[in-house]
Amino acid sequence: MKKGRIAVLLSGRGSNFRALYKATKEGKIPAEIVLVITDKKNALGAASAREYGIETLYFRRKDYPDRVLFDMAIADAIEKRNIDLICLAGYMRILSPEFIKRFRGRIMNIHPALLPCFPGLHAQKQALDYGVRFSGATVHFVDEGVDSGPIILQSVVPVYQDDTEETLAERILKEEHRIYPEAVKLFFEGRLEIKGKKVIIKNEGDSS
Ligand code: GRF
Repeated sequence: MKKGRIAVLLSGRGSNFRALYKATKEGKIPAEIVLVITDKKNALGAASAREYGIETLYFRRKDYPDRVLFDMAIADAIEKRNIDLICLAGYMRILSPEFIKRFRGRIMNIHPALLPCFPGLHAQKQALDYGVRFSGATVHFVDEGVDSGPIILQSVVPVYQDDTEETLAERILKEEHRIYPEAVKLFFEGRLEIKGKKVIIKNEGDSS
């Protein structure tokens, strides 16, 4: 069977990228990461990608007159390489509607909260400040809004009274690294169907 082709967009540390990479290498996902794109020259995740021998491209926002042209240059690079799925992994930019239109239903993101609670930046701090007893991680398809697209998988973690942003982030991150590869696997198995706001997982419970 032909392997699926993934592009990862990242801006920083890249731990989710590495979790995805590991899952592909271990044969847990019937796809491979063939392209990594970063908007930050020194992103740690991009350094890992180069080490793994994955084609890694750096796009500098300053080189483009506006956000849409910047996004279109990235979209062209992705299209040229016949990518099936784009995984945002700590990519710190909001994609333009023009970009979303070109890849609708084929862009995923991971967010460190139980959406629709606490979208946007500093989700762990938002959860602590609000005083919720549980938070978690969400993998979702990306639409034009901020962290508002159809939800694929979620995982819940407890929030403790003595948690700091760091301890909570660490607990959530473990779950991120578990459910992101799982969601990507479901995608490449053809088991995700978007119906309006909802994602239907076909044959749920069937782990074969
Ligand atoms: C993660 O917490 C992810 O949920 C959020 O940004 C962070 C990226 O971490 N979107 P990493 O770069 O994958 O380590």
